[in-house]
Amino acid sequence: MGLDIKKLKEQALKEIEGIKNSQEWQDVRNKYFSRKSGELAKLIKDIKNVSDDLKPQLGALANQVKNDISSALEKKQNELAVSKQGKIDKDFIDVTLEVEKYKLGHLHPMTQVQNELEDIFQSLGFMILDGPELESDYYNFEALNIPEWHPARDTQDTFFIDPATSTSKEPQVMRTHTSPVQVRAMQKHGAPLRCVVPGRVFRNEATDASHDHTFYQLEGLMIDKDIAITHLVSVMKEMLSAIFKKEVNVRLRPGYFPFVEPGFELDFGCLICNGKGCSVCKNTGWIEFVGSGMVHPNVLKYGGIDPEKWTGFAFGLGTTRLVMMKYGIDDIRLLQSGDMRFLNQF
Ligand code: PHE
Repeated sequence: MGLDIKKLKEQALKEIEGIKNSQEWQDVRNKYFSRKSGELAKLIKDIKNVSDDLKPQLGALANQVKNDISSALEKKQNELAVSKQGKIDKDFIDVTLEVEKYKLGHLHPMTQVQNELEDIFQSLGFMILDGPELESDYYNFEALNIPEWHPARDTQDTFFIDPATSTSKEPQVMRTHTSPVQVRAMQKHGAPLRCVVPGRVFRNEATDASHDHTFYQLEGLMIDKDIAITHLVSVMKEMLSAIFKKEVNVRLRPGYFPFVEPGFELDFGCLICNGKGCSVCKNTGWIEFVGSGMVHPNVLKYGGIDPEKWTGFAFGLGTTRLVMMKYGIDDIRLLQSGDMRFLNQF
């Protein structure tokens, strides 16, 4: 009996091997798997008649053979689905098979907000400019009125490039802010000038819920005749109401940045805790958002612009913080995590 089962398998595999088209495939399948008259059905019937002590062993063998024949048939079916000329055999397209659904991707929340900011500033007549992330020490610090000995460098510790491996003769840093593009823009476009510069910046930070070593800023610069602080404030207000589409509390504090004089910090009320205090606003209820001020005459000079004729304001806003506020994200590290469970929510 055991031998018969093995023979049956050999015979079936040989027949399957010889199948040339879908009709033959159907025939072979019926021959073995037909419920009433199929070879396997007959075999099962025969097993019922053997003595009880042989039944389990033969049953197991028959089952194994059934599986082997079934998978050989399946394999053949796949082979037949594509004919020798590479054409699809219509008979073998299984229309009931579940097709993998297209998943449409979407823009990262950072990109969405950055695009929104660009639209707002473009509507106010600002150009959108770009600058290098690997920046020279000159543009990142020196041309912004931060000489080598200046203590302001300590607050912007970053990743310096080892001169031994650098291809540049000048000292280089991963830019700590988007401000280096101020002088680049002045040198390239002169005055009058209205531009914003969105981009990625880097700092040597111990990361926590509100600090990351890599984040995004948007720099703004406006140079013209008789530009004053009032212009800066009105542009900031315009931008905030367009972004949040509601009233947001703001406050201006004196702030020190060597490249502006006078300088300000513009904060807005934390929208995560509504000013009560949380990990994002470090329990102050306020989010430091924009560094700003009137462009320092030395910086205008570095940019080749005469400070006697022209004045301007500059600001640098934290796009990453803005995204966190807009969507109520309480941990900055999520934004760079690439975690789809997080990203799929936007
Ligand atoms: N670059 C400053 C920072 O990153 C912000 C700033 C920009 C301040 C422009 C004043 C003017 O903190």
